[in-house]
Amino acid sequence: MSDTLSDTDVLIIGSGAAGLGLALRLPESVRCTIVSKRDLQEGNTLYAQGGISAVLDSADSLESHVADTLNAGAGLCDEAVVRTVVERGPAAIRWLAEQGVAFTQTPPTGDSQFHLTREGGHSHRRVVHAADATGRAVETTLVERVRQRPNVTVLEYHIAVDLTRTGGRGAPRRCTGAYLLDLRRDRVVAAPARCVVLATGGAAKVYLYTSNPDVATGDGIAMAWRAGCRIANMEFIQFHPTCLYHPKAKSFLISEAVRGEGGRLLLPDGTRFMPKFDERAELAPRDIVARAIDHEMKRLGAECVYLDISHKPAAFIEEHFPTILARCLELGFDMRKEPLPVVPAAHYTCGGVKVDRSGETDIPGLFAIGETAYTGLHGANRMASNSLLECLVYSELAAERIVQRLAEPCPLESVPPWDESRVTDSDEEVVVSHNWDELRRFMWDYVGIVRSNKRLARARRRVDLLRREIDEYYGNFRVSNDLLELRNLLEVADLIVQSAQRRRESRGLHYNIDFPETDPNQAQPTVLIPDNYVPSPRG
Ligand code: FAD
Ligand code: SIN
Repeated sequence: MSDTLSDTDVLIIGSGAAGLGLALRLPESVRCTIVSKRDLQEGNTLYAQGGISAVLDSADSLESHVADTLNAGAGLCDEAVVRTVVERGPAAIRWLAEQGVAFTQTPPTGDSQFHLTREGGHSHRRVVHAADATGRAVETTLVERVRQRPNVTVLEYHIAVDLTRTGGRGAPRRCTGAYLLDLRRDRVVAAPARCVVLATGGAAKVYLYTSNPDVATGDGIAMAWRAGCRIANMEFIQFHPTCLYHPKAKSFLISEAVRGEGGRLLLPDGTRFMPKFDERAELAPRDIVARAIDHEMKRLGAECVYLDISHKPAAFIEEHFPTILARCLELGFDMRKEPLPVVPAAHYTCGGVKVDRSGETDIPGLFAIGETAYTGLHGANRMASNSLLECLVYSELAAERIVQRLAEPCPLESVPPWDESRVTDSDEEVVVSHNWDELRRFMWDYVGIVRSNKRLARARRRVDLLRREIDEYYGNFRVSNDLLELRNLLEVADLIVQSAQRRRESRGLHYNIDFPETDPNQAQPTVLIPDNYVPSPRG
């Protein structure tokens, strides 16, 4: 059974900091629909721990935040974008505080109204936070605000399947809406809209071990690619150095703020090892720390390394890291008294849908914001706590542009109903679960922290094999949540492998043992262009 929803001005796909932030920045005269594939608060934002970076202390400066971001980005950041985001940072934090986010207040030093912590790559204390559960404070506050908005319709348990658009080669194009699978009623509905925003988060579920929740399957990146948008910098997948090593922990994150507040990384015999890799030691940018851990684990055949903050007073740990402490205690580790076993895990997608300075993609009327977008802010490696900041700033920039777009003549186009005439119910769900596992495992083994030409070629062959199988399955059977996510994960894996094969050097998060040096001639983003790409009339 298929159906069409009543039209809306702005269809926002995704309800993390980016999607909710945008809904709240749009005027109440704009009719908005927010679609989320689980309940509204589920997504990476909810699990963010460390905080949000912004210059809030007079001893710090915008120039220093810009310089640190450029430095972490290893020569690939777009400096103009970095400046815009950094300059808008303090106002974005004030806006969040006005919405009701209760940031930790007591300053240890300096003149900021907020307590500022430190994380890797930052040369100052500039990370505002709500203890160690910043994302929960942000997400729950924004959800509450959005639910009070009369102009916003919320559709939970709806997963976007694909985008719809007018035009083809040479003809004027515009995004006209999306198809959504209503997971509770098991039917696909057409959702026409004047503007569509992808705020679907990252894709780290493409790896076997990840700090991300299950929803992070790169749906927005895959949908945009299929619709004809360029995708950039997908080789730069960030591995967080410190996730708890425990079979039941599901790669639970141990925030970088633990290192920011003095935590040290130790080998199994108790030796501290980071100073020999970088003068910033535990506070070097993440690519350096994750690679050092990977190196030491492989050298020693160790299953994990250790993160130790037990030299700090117990009261300090209880005050600053209550969430992490409680979860570790549940799993049998007391970080007040002993080091925690940690390993790296896939954490953040630096690349994504290529957008302009307002978050608009190659297709007029289609926007991408938050982790799903490639804005140029992060370059080859995102600096800690710059992601939530990007979500907030780009939701504001996109809102400004969308208001302009809605004032232009842009009639609502009808979206044809979803065609199910040639598919049947699946008879072999096991194909989906098997391929899902296989994909995530070979991405971990062959396209992980350390890559080689041979491993990438192996991954390429497996992607091609899986594509044939998944395309056939998709063409013959009714769509389900797992099938849609698998199809998107495969698309994203393909984009990561293609991008990694194109970059014939090592830079930031992309390390290839066959090209171990950074090549100054390759200091450009990797931009993949789909076959159905049409250059935007705006240039
Ligand atoms: P998300 O918050 O991931 O939201 C994506 C939304 O899209 C979800 O609602 C999801 O259900 C929905 N969705 C996805 N696909 C579909 C679909 N097909 N149809 C419908 N809905 C869909 N960054 C920082 O700056 N500071 C931190 O301290 C920090 N800590 C982190 C800790 C952890 C454990 C993790 C995982 C990430 C952390 N990050 C941090 C990164 C940061 O949290 C994310 O980059 C950011 O929250 C992304 O926000 P978003 O709105 O783009 O996406
Ligand atoms: C963390 O708290 O370590 C995560 C911070 C981030 O990903 O920016």
